[in-house]
Amino acid sequence: MFDVEKIRKDFPMIVNHPELIYFDSAATSFKPKCVIDEVMDYYQFNNVNIHRGDYDISFAVSKRYDDVRKTVARFINARRPEEIVYTYGATSSLNTVAINFGKKFLKKGDVILTSEVEHASDILPWFKAAEASGSSISYVPFPKSGKFDLEAYEKCFEDKNVKIVALPHVSNVLGYIYPMKQIARIAHEHGTYIAVDGAQAVPHIKVDVQDLDIDFLSFSSHKMLGPGGIGILYGKYELLDQLDPVFYGGGSNARFYPDCSIILKNTPEKFEAGTPDIEGVLGLGKAIEYLQDIGMDEVEAYGKKLADHFIAKLEKLDNVTVYNHGAQAGIVTFNVNGIFAQDAAGYFNKQGIAVRTGNHCAKMLDQIIGVNETIRASMYIYNTEEEIDRFVDVIKDTTLEKCVDSIL
Ligand SMILES: Cc1ncc(COP(=O)(O)O)c(C=O)c1O
Repeated sequence: MFDVEKIRKDFPMIVNHPELIYFDSAATSFKPKCVIDEVMDYYQFNNVNIHRGDYDISFAVSKRYDDVRKTVARFINARRPEEIVYTYGATSSLNTVAINFGKKFLKKGDVILTSEVEHASDILPWFKAAEASGSSISYVPFPKSGKFDLEAYEKCFEDKNVKIVALPHVSNVLGYIYPMKQIARIAHEHGTYIAVDGAQAVPHIKVDVQDLDIDFLSFSSHKMLGPGGIGILYGKYELLDQLDPVFYGGGSNARFYPDCSIILKNTPEKFEAGTPDIEGVLGLGKAIEYLQDIGMDEVEAYGKKLADHFIAKLEKLDNVTVYNHGAQAGIVTFNVNGIFAQDAAGYFNKQGIAVRTGNHCAKMLDQIIGVNETIRASMYIYNTEEEIDRFVDVIKDTTLEKCVDSIL
């Protein structure tokens, strides 16, 4: 049974800021106490390196660190823990795939199929991969609604030499869940690989990489209750194993010689050069356990319930334009008519409400939805319908004069 009042007590940011309404979890989520305690425990009682020390504390921490790989693998239903690479965040995972997939598999004339809804972290690495390999970028046409159009997507394979599809599972601006299972099936039917940006999906919905049959998945810990500085790259083992690492250094090599030859360790260690974010990994393990205790089905249903409630209320206001009717993943994107998004956010801030405005790093999305600046309210398991109601009351009474006054 989903108990939001109980959940709220687990989050020190909520307890310590009783007046704050935080609607910016798509940027980063709050952390529950168990995650903070896990990181503190590392610093206070177990602050040693892993896989390098010949003493008990190092053995114990190394085991906990390695066990998190199994926890992550189970969480997304990877076939084996070796398909899980620790990175520094979704951006670092996405770069690892794009740059190295490009080096290994892309050649002149190939096409990378992506979209104009992409977050910068999912598209810029592919721009670079295209530049380096002589391949080109092509965009899946999107309707003005920003909803994924499977038919338009399938047509993209007709006359193009598509080698890889790079798409998000959930849009970070519009909160739509894309039909990833069909997207992946169509990609594979055309002999194409698929790399998925899971930064906004894995925290909010159940992601099963085997069921979806995706080739790569990237996500960040800090958006799913875990610490910052740690992310995950999942890849099907046989594919991952063919990629080169981005970084070289300690921990990832078995031997190296004066003639500059390097014998790398096996996947995934070969991708993890240097001392990793040990405390981040341990904290991520706790975050996953916390989410699993609630249940990802419950997390997803609650996110949808909040978004439905919010959008239904906004649709009744005549001073608001909503851009993502029917959004599923706890993201609501809108504007107060006639008011610049950031000015409205300045006023909301004065009322104790934290939102994000702008293009949300999806700098080409304006080509689709026809507007560059929006207000994004992104929610998570600790938000409530009462917070939404309070926010909607504020939005209803928002005027240009009030916004200007709040800036002066
Ligand atoms: C869809 C999407 N992809 C990638 C990223 C990048 O994540 P990070 O900044 O944690 O590397 C974000 C962050 O907002 C995102 O929303």
